[in-house]
Order: sequence, then C-alpha cells, then structure tokens
Amino acid sequence: MSAQAALARITETHRSHIIEDQSTVTDVVLDAMAQTRSPRLREITASFVRHMHAFAREVRLTEDEFEFGLDFLNRIGQATHDAHNEAVLFSDAIGFSTLVCLLNNGQAGATETASALLGPFWRMNSPLTENGGSIVRSPTPGPALFTECHITDPLGRPLEGVEVDVWQASPVGLYENQDETQADMNLRGKFITDEAGRFWFRSVKPAGYPVPTDGPVGDLLRAQGRHPYRPAHLHFLGFKAGYKTLITQVFADDDAHLESDVVFGVTRHLIGGYREGQGTPPASDVTGPWYRLGYTFVMEPGEAKLPVPPIK
Ligand code: BEZ
Ligand code: FE
Repeated sequence: MSAQAALARITETHRSHIIEDQSTVTDVVLDAMAQTRSPRLREITASFVRHMHAFAREVRLTEDEFEFGLDFLNRIGQATHDAHNEAVLFSDAIGFSTLVCLLNNGQAGATETASALLGPFWRMNSPLTENGGSIVRSPTPGPALFTECHITDPLGRPLEGVEVDVWQASPVGLYENQDETQADMNLRGKFITDEAGRFWFRSVKPAGYPVPTDGPVGDLLRAQGRHPYRPAHLHFLGFKAGYKTLITQVFADDDAHLESDVVFGVTRHLIGGYREGQGTPPASDVTGPWYRLGYTFVMEPGEAKLPVPPIK
C-alpha cells in the first residue's frame, strides 16, 4: 500500500460516524462498510443497505412494524429444519427465486430459458434407477404416468450421460420426506441419458398441492388473501460436465392453478402435455386411465455445479 493510500485509509477510519439526523444515517453506514475487502461483497452489502433504508423511508416504517418484521425473520429461521426450508419457501412465495433464476439463465435473462426455481424439496442422492424403471417405491395413489424425455444442447444435438434427478409430490400433496406413510425416496430417482439423449421412467401423474402453510409464509399468504397451491408438476435437475446444471419443472396444462402458481414458477416454456394414453398400456399391471409425458430439455454450455440441498 502506498503512503498516500495508507493515509487515505487512516482518514477514512477516523471519519466521524456520529449520526446528526435520519437523513445522514445511510451515508454514514455506507461509509463504515466502504473498506470491505471483497469488491463483490462491498457492492452487494452497500446496495442492500441503500435499498433497505429507502424501503423504510418510502413506507415510513413504524416501530411496531419493524418489530413485526424482525419477528417474521426469526420465525423463518425457527421453522427451518433438516426436512423443511422456510427461507427457500419465503423467497419462492415473493417471486424472488424466479427472478434470480431468470436473471441467471437464458443468456442472463435475454432469452427464454428452460430453467425454473429449485424449490425446498430437492434431496441429494436420489436412487440411481434404470431407464424404464419406476420411481414409485411404496403404494401411491394416482394414474400411472410414463415419461419419455430427451436432453439436447442448444443446437439440438443429443446429450449422452446427463445425470437427471427427478422428484415429485405424491398425489396426496406431500413429498416423501413430509409424509411418514411413504417409503424413503418415494417418487425420487436418478436417471442417465442414453446415446440418443433419452431418459424414461414410470411414475404417477402428479397432482397440484399446497405449499406448507403452518409457518410464517402461511401467515403471509393468508394476510395477502392468496391460495397456497402449486399446479401439478415434475421436478428435474440435469447435471453434466461442461453444461450449466439445468434445474426445472414441467407443469400439467390441465391444472386449475396453472395461471396462479403460488411461487410463480410457471413460464410458457415449461407447460407440458400430460396426455391420456390410448390403447394397450406400456405395462401389464396398469388398470384404468394412464398418461404419457414427452418433453425435450435443452442444456446450455456452462458450469456444472450442484446447488446446496435445501433439505437433508
Ligand atoms: C416445490 O415445487 O417443490 C415447491 C416449490 C416452491 C415452494 C414450495 C414447494
Ligand atoms: Fe414441487
């Protein structure tokens, strides 16, 4: 550090941080944080403080409201445990997860993307399952579903060897980790695409379900007069070295809540056709109506990186 820079730093440190009135608080706080070593952390924390202060000024936040907000944040933490992530749910319910997803995919938000929010229910280490196998691991109601999916690169060339995690809620509306009556890893599986970029499996047709409403996010939804439902969907996470990890969902086009997903995950690109099967079903034990889903995913070149699992 040059002598001049060292002097500037000492002068900075000795700038008075006595607060004169409300109008000067923001600048004083920004000044106190100005020596944050990481440029990116400095940029993010400064912007966060500017926006938080502007927010309090805009709504003229009262002390009661301030205490209420702090309690809300604390309750988000208290409601979070190994099997539930209220922070992810909160971010999803205010559209923040979708915004971050769209800003970071599809050429940084410039074009349509096949990505969607991860949600709070992805688990690591889904059971590796042969193509054509079933992810129904304990008795589960609902019509049989046979999926036939492809993964290509942006030029339409098939991608072989993509590891694809699949997960879904049971048609009773709960993921297996929320429901003691389901086997561990029920309706979860990991598939590997073949040389034609295909993976395929059997499951049950997903149904719409409410997100958990017994925590602070539930209070927020009730206060806002919002329903808690997600339209029926399957989740997918595609992982292959050299390609940006694809996290997405495919929604049923016949769901009553398709246009009003409580967590804002539905984009036009992700509406799939879950079509009732005609003729002889693909498996001899199928009785009654059954469905097919065909879908092609596109993975963009980029970094293959797994997210931090929201639950264990
Ligand atoms: C889900 O689809 O698993 C989900 C996403 C956001 C909030 C709650 C659930
Ligand atoms: Fe889901």
